[in-house]
Amino acid sequence: MASLQDHWEEIYKEKPSVSLGWYQESPSLSLRLIEGAGLPKEAPCLDAGAGCSLLADQLKAIGYQDLSLVDWSLAALEQVKGRLGAKGVQYLVGDLLKLKLERRYQLWHDRAVFHFLINDQEQEAYLEQVKAALVPGGFFVVGGFSPEGPERCSGQPVRRLAPLRLAELFGADFELEVEQADIHHTPGGTAQSYLYQRWRRKTI
Ligand SMILES: C[S@@+](CC[C@H](N)C(=O)[O-])C[C@H]1O[C@@H](n2cnc3c(N)ncnc32)[C@H](O)[C@@H]1O
Repeated sequence: MASLQDHWEEIYKEKPSVSLGWYQESPSLSLRLIEGAGLPKEAPCLDAGAGCSLLADQLKAIGYQDLSLVDWSLAALEQVKGRLGAKGVQYLVGDLLKLKLERRYQLWHDRAVFHFLINDQEQEAYLEQVKAALVPGGFFVVGGFSPEGPERCSGQPVRRLAPLRLAELFGADFELEVEQADIHHTPGGTAQSYLYQRWRRKTI
């Protein structure tokens, strides 16, 4: 049986990025939440499960100089590397739950990745990675299907982002700064309810 990682690799090898359900021409809410953190443009920022998102292109265009993109699909990251090259962008191929990150970051962004973690252990392992990677005072921006959103994404089951669950997971170590609902229109014309939040890692 193909692994989950193979599933994603096949998708990026076979389908044009503009046809993917999660494709966004402009990741405007992510950009707004990242910009709202007020970090200097040289701050190291990580996009977790970046896929072939245009977020890095747009962050680079407004001056961000130190981006790390993590995904377990080599095909996805190669597409981005083909667009952006290696200057100011690091490409890390691996499983977000296991990858040993060698650097620390001021911002961790996740759109439509955390919601694939459907059991408590996976969510807790992910949170440990976020905590290990983020400096105190660093930001965690997350966007995923809201409780009104779809139950599946890319054929896989999801656990929608219930605010109470996120508070239970992150509340001890992070402060919620912003929460915003959003509607994503897929290339196929379906409207999907998303919830975005920006958390700040507590300094003590
Ligand atoms: C729905 S796509 C979202 C891509 C991108 N964040 C965006 O908004 O366009 C989910 C992405 O997460 C990646 N992914 C899922 N689970 C992962 C894991 N455990 N480790 C690394 N990448 C993962 C997939 O390969 C895929 O690129």
